[in-house]
Amino acid sequence: MSWRGVIEEFRGHLPVTGSTPVVTLLEGNTPLIPAPKLAARLGRGRKLFLKYEGLNPTGSFKDRGMTLAISLALERGAHTVICASTGNTSAAAAAYATRAGMRCAVLLPAKKIARGKLAQALMHGAKAIALKGNFDDALRVVRELGNEPGIAIVNSINPDRIQGQKTAAFEIVRDLGDAPDIHALPVGNAGNITAYWKGYGEFFDQGLSRKRPAMFGFQAAGAAPIVLGHPVKDPETIATAIRIGDPASWEGAAAAIRESGGHIGTVTDEEILAAHYWLASNEGVFVEPASAAGIAGLLKLAASPECPIPDEARIVVTVTGHGLKDPDVAIDNAPGLIKCRADRDKVLKKILADDK
Ligand code: F0G
Repeated sequence: MSWRGVIEEFRGHLPVTGSTPVVTLLEGNTPLIPAPKLAARLGRGRKLFLKYEGLNPTGSFKDRGMTLAISLALERGAHTVICASTGNTSAAAAAYATRAGMRCAVLLPAKKIARGKLAQALMHGAKAIALKGNFDDALRVVRELGNEPGIAIVNSINPDRIQGQKTAAFEIVRDLGDAPDIHALPVGNAGNITAYWKGYGEFFDQGLSRKRPAMFGFQAAGAAPIVLGHPVKDPETIATAIRIGDPASWEGAAAAIRESGGHIGTVTDEEILAAHYWLASNEGVFVEPASAAGIAGLLKLAASPECPIPDEARIVVTVTGHGLKDPDVAIDNAPGLIKCRADRDKVLKKILADDK
């Protein structure tokens, strides 16, 4: 039978009933792609797999949580959903809400949303509200609106989002036959690391896996509240998806790292951009800048003298969003176009030249 979306596939593990209206775009079942060149860079017999969440219907992992959040909001009688977003949550909320016949409003930090994501929210018919302020300001306003009758918040402060997102961990256990030794991912509002830890924990407790991974989270150096141990007032990073100074699921992230014996670290924008281009140009996997933070973090740790990654470790890194989400950063970050006259010999010379 073909894939039915995460609610139907994992119904027994999710807080739905027979009367929940299932709003789905058949999200989930994303590929776990071996990355041998990256594994070679990490060295010491380590094995690496990319959970390519950019292949979800709206191009990011947010669809997993959104199918559940929108289905349950509809069941509870909401007519409108709202969220604050750095872009991907808004794209997913807009798509699933319109499918459910609900109104959707997304609160976005003005001028800090990648173009692909903005296009999605607008095309799916959401009310896109550009706020003067950052994601943390937008989330504060959303929280203040949450008690309005008929309005449901679909940020990850809504536990239904975490429930849906945990299904990515289930798929990884299914594909590998067990949990990996290490699971690495970027951390912004910290919902996803919380969700993965929950998913791995549930499968372990139910005897569906033999172990749980150490959770490795990476924040952008200019937006690293969990690493610093305090909120960051004016977070800044080229990876706009994780430009967040006061994550809502801080506690969940801290618990995941502590309980799993994991790690939380930072990566600079330069390291993010290097990993972003390297991954696309070597492994053939194009992700958005924030998604490269996990890759950058692993490369940084592997090169450090006190590397916490064991030899031979089996590592999964979630690459959270598709590269097409943020074409502007990609084009700026890649080598420039080669200009040439329309002449056979000149073109051939350019093609065969070793330099780019
Ligand atoms: N990667 C991407 C591509 C994201 O869009 C996000 C978060 C993260 C990583 C971090 O995940 O917040 O669960 O720790 N994006 C949110 C949004 C904030 O509004 O789209 P997190």
